[in-house]
Amino acid sequence: MTARQKILIDCDPGHDDAVAILFAARHMDLVGITSVHGNNSLENTTRNALAVVEMGKLDVPVARGCAEPLAQEAVGIAAMHGKSGLDGADIPVPERTVIDTHAVDFIIAMAEQHREELILATIGPETNIAMALRREPRLKSWIREITVMGGSTTTGNVTPAAEFNIFADVEAAWTVFESGIPLRMVGYNVTRQTGFDQSDIDRMRASGRSVAATLADLMAFYLEKQRVGYGLTVAPMHDVCAIVPYVDDSLIDYVHTSARIEKTGTYTRGMTVCDLRTLKSAEAINMRHASAANALVAVGARSRALIDRVVDTLLTYD
Ligand code: BDR
Ligand code: CA
Repeated sequence: MTARQKILIDCDPGHDDAVAILFAARHMDLVGITSVHGNNSLENTTRNALAVVEMGKLDVPVARGCAEPLAQEAVGIAAMHGKSGLDGADIPVPERTVIDTHAVDFIIAMAEQHREELILATIGPETNIAMALRREPRLKSWIREITVMGGSTTTGNVTPAAEFNIFADVEAAWTVFESGIPLRMVGYNVTRQTGFDQSDIDRMRASGRSVAATLADLMAFYLEKQRVGYGLTVAPMHDVCAIVPYVDDSLIDYVHTSARIEKTGTYTRGMTVCDLRTLKSAEAINMRHASAANALVAVGARSRALIDRVVDTLLTYD
């Protein structure tokens, strides 16, 4: 039997973060979860991470991370996820607690322990990862790949140009995207159309399983927010899209190209500038002032098949 791929998830749960955690735990060797500010206060995202771990009966350490962005003002809580960051169901107060180590130190320790084997998933603002990179430059050679839910090749969600996770800490995202670590970016261009529709929610509710029933309530809340806020007919599962390629690499299509973070634009701060121009000859690249490829950038997905895979996995919980 081949060993399961090791992954650490840095997150700000968040409805779709919860699903990403539960999906990863079933298919991969989830070595830890680190919390960060983002969808809600650090206090709430940490509590929500612990609640998800408890809900799934997972034996996974949770470390508390950074409460604020590196340099900018905090953008405030994401309305999509409600007051608690995980509104829509009665989630019990978790009994377990965080480990004694700060998320930044924990990320460094796990990367060192699992050198060249660890995938680091960043599905919230990238503050913890940027701090870890600043503190331990050897992280660059220890991490196998960073998988990012963030950015977009087209429109943003939080501004016309920027996606939430990048916009919530632009300097941190810049640090990660310029780090030289292999990146895999799935952005809003793909994730906005990859989500649970009403029939998926009904399927989870009808299963008679308690985790699926709780998720159905959570997702019904989130779907309604997405309908009102963005006119979507699915509850987008942004974050699980960063995990799925390690379980089934046929579900998302990527191109290897340059993805850079816009730090200074009046209207474009937080934008991911992805070079999707198609001509790849050295002469053409030279003529266009293209910067070097630093990321696999998602350009399409088999959304229905992907979501079916996710729902099937969630239905394996009691
Ligand atoms: C991202 O922002 C958050 O609200 C979601 O959890 C996801 O990580 C989508 O823009
Ligand atoms: Ca998230």
